[in-house]
Amino acid sequence: MKKLAVLVSGVGSILEALISKKLTIALVLADRECRAVEIAKVAGIRTEIIPRTFGKTFNRHLYTLNVVRLLKDRGIDLVVMAGYMTVFAPVMFEEYANRITNIHPSLLPEFKGERAVADALESGAKVTGTTIHLATEKLDDGPIIAQEAVLVLDGDTVETLWERIKIVERRLYPEVVQKLLEE
Ligand code: GRF
Repeated sequence: MKKLAVLVSGVGSILEALISKKLTIALVLADRECRAVEIAKVAGIRTEIIPRTFGKTFNRHLYTLNVVRLLKDRGIDLVVMAGYMTVFAPVMFEEYANRITNIHPSLLPEFKGERAVADALESGAKVTGTTIHLATEKLDDGPIIAQEAVLVLDGDTVETLWERIKIVERRLYPEVVQKLLEE
C-alpha cells in the first residue's frame, strides 16, 4: 500500500473530506500552525510542522530539502497538497516527480496563483471551477488529472463562490487520490 502524505496550511476542509472518505493518511505536514493540523490530530493522524519564515530570511531551497528529507524518512510515496501555501524549490519535483499533486480553485490554465477566486470574479467570467493536477516546478501548472466547472452566480462574493468550489473539491479530490493510491 502506498504511503500518503497530505500537505496543508489553512482551514483543512479538503483534508477533512479525505479523512471522511477513509483514505489512510500516514502523515499530515504543515508549514505553520493551522486548523488543519488540529483536524489531523483529532483523527489520530501523525502530524509534523516545518515552520517557514516570510520575507528575505526565507531560504526556499533549504526549506524544501527539509520537507523532502522528512517525507523520505517516513517512506512517503504520494504527496497530496491540499491548501498548502508554500511554493517548493525544484528539488521537490525531482524527488517526487509524478508523485505530487495539487488542487487549485480555478479551471487551469486560467487564474493561477493565490487570488484565483477573486480574479475569476473580477474578470466577469460566468464559469470557473477546480483543477487537480500533477505539481511541477511551475506554480499551478503540470499535467491535469481532473477538472470540474462551477458556475459564477449573480451576487457571488469570493466567500460564496469559493465555498461552492470547495464543495466540488471535497468530492473530487478524495476520488482522484483514491485512484492514485490504487495505481
Ligand atoms: C482549496 O480551495 C484548494 O483548491 C486551494 O486551497 C483551498 C484549501 O481549502 N488550494 P481548505 O483549507 O482545505 O478548506
